[in-house]
Amino acid sequence: MTAAAHTSAFRRPIIAANWKMHKTAQEAVSYGQKLLAGISGVTGVEVVVCPPFTALAALGPVLSGSDVALGAQNVHWEAAGAYTGEISAAMLVDAGCRYVIIGHSERRAMGETDEQVACKVKAAAAAGLTPIVCVGERIEDRRAGRTEELVTAQVRAALAGVAPEIAAKIVVAYEPVWAIGTGEHASPAEAGRVIGLIRSAVEATCGTHAASCVRIQYGGSVNAENIGGFLAEPEIDGALVGSASLDAGSFARIVRRAQEVKGS
Ligand code: 13P
Repeated sequence: MTAAAHTSAFRRPIIAANWKMHKTAQEAVSYGQKLLAGISGVTGVEVVVCPPFTALAALGPVLSGSDVALGAQNVHWEAAGAYTGEISAAMLVDAGCRYVIIGHSERRAMGETDEQVACKVKAAAAAGLTPIVCVGERIEDRRAGRTEELVTAQVRAALAGVAPEIAAKIVVAYEPVWAIGTGEHASPAEAGRVIGLIRSAVEATCGTHAASCVRIQYGGSVNAENIGGFLAEPEIDGALVGSASLDAGSFARIVRRAQEVKGS
């Protein structure tokens, strides 16, 4: 089966906020309250908010009982030990997380490797967290015509040894590095094309069922004005949003637009 043959009908759209290194615990609480008010009535879209570690404990109780899930921005692959400054998957579960971003390009740029990403994916899934695995090419890779090769290699490495039934449940975020925080986003058609290639890489690594189920987001300068174009692409199942997620009203508009375009 080719990637194009994978139907999107049963993949629930997922919009995630990556706050990166922004907001105190108190700011997270008022954001959470405002977001819940701003998206009340939205049922067809899964929503995830990933604050810094220090705001998880404060934001968790605000979101609990709602459909908005809590996520973290990183995890260590070991269960415990002498790893100063690191956080385990079990600690994230304990803090109320259901998701964790893994392999963001801002971490890869600081030295995180494909092998570490793969270890983190396995540790997170084993603890019951849903990994949001980030892949994407740098501008020099794109100019050199290496986008497909690079992104495919990242997906294969991240999913190596991951059981198909686990792979089916993860989320992949295609974030071209040159589109992050630049205001210069990929065209929806190009994002859809690369995401189709990513789905094929999932198929090659974990099989057809996993490829049909895995949800693949686009990320990179997404906002309320352009989200509709991305979600109109059948291969694109959602978005990972940075800057435009920092304001609760702006993120709520993105979620509501996603509901209009893709929610059912
Ligand atoms: P921006 O939406 O600010 O471009 O960031 C995207 C991103 O890196 C989300 O993980």
